[in-house]
Amino acid sequence: MSQFPTVRPRRLRSSPALRRLVAETRMDPADLVLPVFLREGLSEPRPIGSMPGVLQHTPDSLRRAAAEAAEAGVGGIMLFGVPATHDATGTGATDPDGIANVGLRLLREEVGESMVVVSDLCLDEFTDHGHCGVLAADGRVDNDATLVRYAEMALAQAEAGASLLGLSGMMDGQVGAVRAALDDAGRTDVGTLAYAAKYASAMYGPFREAVDSQLTGDRRTYQMDPANRREGLRETLLDVEEGADVVMVKPATLYLDVLGDVAEAVDVPVAAYHVSGEMAMVEAAAERGWIDRRRTILETLLSVRRAGAGIVATYWATEAAGWLRER
Ligand code: PBG
Repeated sequence: MSQFPTVRPRRLRSSPALRRLVAETRMDPADLVLPVFLREGLSEPRPIGSMPGVLQHTPDSLRRAAAEAAEAGVGGIMLFGVPATHDATGTGATDPDGIANVGLRLLREEVGESMVVVSDLCLDEFTDHGHCGVLAADGRVDNDATLVRYAEMALAQAEAGASLLGLSGMMDGQVGAVRAALDDAGRTDVGTLAYAAKYASAMYGPFREAVDSQLTGDRRTYQMDPANRREGLRETLLDVEEGADVVMVKPATLYLDVLGDVAEAVDVPVAAYHVSGEMAMVEAAAERGWIDRRRTILETLLSVRRAGAGIVATYWATEAAGWLRER
């Protein structure tokens, strides 16, 4: 045997053309979903301190952001409403004139069929206690009473023009309950994007500033324990059984193992949400000049796609779409 290798993987890395030809993962703007915030009662868009480049929008600035994303080829836009007032059952969530439903209508009007309009189907932005569901007398989050509210929300969001409902509350049975409500109302055309494996993560910190979260305490009785990998698959398979059209893992980069498991196991499209804290870490390090911002962002999104997500929700969607088009 020669002392030199006969198998040389480096051969395929020797030129940009070869590397491009053999790349296993590609990214396209169409795979990206842009999360956006619409805040009630703002006269000017307001920056979110811990999410550089992300704004709480006014209706006008939201329209512009949506048009810009559509122009860049971004595949979807996901809306979070930030209401001015909150109450125990989150009535703003089902009010057709509530900020999220107003925003969905506005987005639908602005982007038409050029991008998929995704809602956030969860009560936390609207409740005065900040939990994702309604509370029982003993203060616990009441799963089944919450499902009733989710079913009402689903109809309001369908009516407002959402094509995919983003079920982010982590209540048991939420996908089945929402699917049944939609079907009973004749809205078989509206789909569900289930946050199937959503972990109780420290990475949502900046988001809670973005939505003016009223939460004290935590969400550990409904969001998943970060220690659990197999349970991520279990939760996802349940959602598929209940009729989820798309399943999502969240956060993304800290849960690539779960994402890989899910992508192997299911036959519906798989999404991952690169969340606010994941974004903030990159932005903070880049701001200090410790990492190259653009390369890190593209590598981050690539890692999520490589692990198995066909769809990536990211605050960088429009910017990254621009870079992808340049290449
Ligand atoms: C809850 C919701 C959260 C996020 C999206 N939907 C926060 C939470 O569970 O507390 C977080 C998104 C992010 O951090 O970017 N409706």
